[in-house]
Amino acid sequence: MHASSLLFSIAALVVAGCQMQPKETVVESPTKEKYELLGYESKVAWGEHLVTIGVCDDCHSPKIMTENGPEPDPSLRLSGHPASMEPANLDRKVIEQNGYGACNPHLTSWIGPWGISYAANLTSDPTGIGNWTEENFFRAIREGKFKGLENGRMLLPPMPWPNYRYMTDDELSAIFAFLKTVPPVKNVVPNPQPPVSAVM
Ligand code: HEC
Repeated sequence: MHASSLLFSIAALVVAGCQMQPKETVVESPTKEKYELLGYESKVAWGEHLVTIGVCDDCHSPKIMTENGPEPDPSLRLSGHPASMEPANLDRKVIEQNGYGACNPHLTSWIGPWGISYAANLTSDPTGIGNWTEENFFRAIREGKFKGLENGRMLLPPMPWPNYRYMTDDELSAIFAFLKTVPPVKNVVPNPQPPVSAVM
């Protein structure tokens, strides 16, 4: 066979091969049928429900004081520990060495044997999860990785990712879709601090 006709045959085969590929179909997760069957009008509505019953606000929303005690501040919903808030003035050494835990009244910063952790900003702002992909979110919750990065540090307590990791793909996807709709709050949450016992 002449070299050029051989090349032509190969090219024809490649083209034929490409045409045989099944057409890519994008399946929405969760499907419309599924969330409607569960009684939600949208994927985002299902996500909001899961965030509510998953008590994400407990730790991730600064509070306002009401007659019934602290409640999430609607204007700062899910924006994490406010950068401007003073750290708790407590004897961390006593807390750490006795294995106690303590938190501020907003439940956004936590002291324990791991040092101090600060609840993250989960709003749609770039200082929150605004630039995250769904893959980042799945990795953060399933593998406990900071920012959902493969080489990210492990998330500190009390973020309950070891429990949340059992959420289904549909549930996580719905939560992420909801978080992307949470009004942006610019707040760069402080970095966690190591235990005082280790640094002294
Ligand atoms: C008991 C407190 C608590 C609850 C409840 C909680 N979180 Fe967290 N979460 C934290 C803390 C504290 C951190 C920061 C941990 C760290 O810096 O290592 C965090 C971190 C995260 C991160 C990682 C952010 C980043 O920048 O890497 C995500 C994502 C997250 N939480 C989502 C959620 C969602 C979604 C819910 C509800 C389904 C939830 N959290 C409920 C305390 C909590």
